[in-house]
Amino acid sequence: MIRVRDLRYRYADSGPVLNGIDFDLKAGESTALLGSNGSGKTTFALHLNGILQGEGEVEVATIRVTTATLEEVRRKVGFVFQSSENQLFLPTVLEDVMFGLLNQGVPAEQARSRAMEMLERLHLASYANRNPFHLSAGEKRRAAIAGVLVMSPEVLILDEPTTFLDPPGIRELAAMLNQLPMAKLIITHDSRFAIDTTTRASFFDKGRILADGPTRDIIQRFDWF
Ligand SMILES: Nc1ncnc2c1ncn2[C@@H]1O[C@H](COP(=O)(O)OP(=O)(O)O)[C@@H](O)[C@H]1O
Ligand SMILES: [Mg+2]
Repeated sequence: MIRVRDLRYRYADSGPVLNGIDFDLKAGESTALLGSNGSGKTTFALHLNGILQGEGEVEVATIRVTTATLEEVRRKVGFVFQSSENQLFLPTVLEDVMFGLLNQGVPAEQARSRAMEMLERLHLASYANRNPFHLSAGEKRRAAIAGVLVMSPEVLILDEPTTFLDPPGIRELAAMLNQLPMAKLIITHDSRFAIDTTTRASFFDKGRILADGPTRDIIQRFDWF
């Protein structure tokens, strides 16, 4: 589902941030990205839907990610950003969840019913007409996830999705993710959440993947509790 070879990237004002990343994710597989702050996890993930484009090969669902394929790639890759504020910008939760569908040309009535269905699945139906900015951080996160899931992506990327969630909220999110059939890439510092939601993990260090393997083994090997 994802194939990356020798990916290298530096920001305009930074030294090298990705130093030759090789990475594979199979259909339906769920992998965690672990590693210190600043090791390049977010920068790497942003290449998978073409927000950033470095040197090397990035393929999603057999499509090479380039400027020419961005639209197609973004239909396949759902990205839940670390900060939900970057994802919610309309006056109501329902409109935010409908936004991507409308953008894809789905008729308004159909977009509305699909969005409501997704809000119900995430226990957010009663928030449909609320202003996203007035929700708690955990509710904002769920609303942002609803807006991504409603697009039926083939790959779901979540960047530190447990930030601001309380322990029951984290467990609920894990249970919800485990019911989703698509391939998932989960960036997290929460080792228990990683174990609960993924079978494999890749450990990032200074823009390289030091090791990958079963999530528990990687956590143990790097003492990442
Ligand atoms: N927009 C940016 N401009 C310049 N440097 C950046 C930018 N975003 C991240 N970096 C740098 O790239 C490195 C990797 O950051 P990041 O990918 O966010 O790491 P992680 O997600 O693992 O914490 C860090 O040194 C960070 O300072
Ligand atoms: Mg990050």
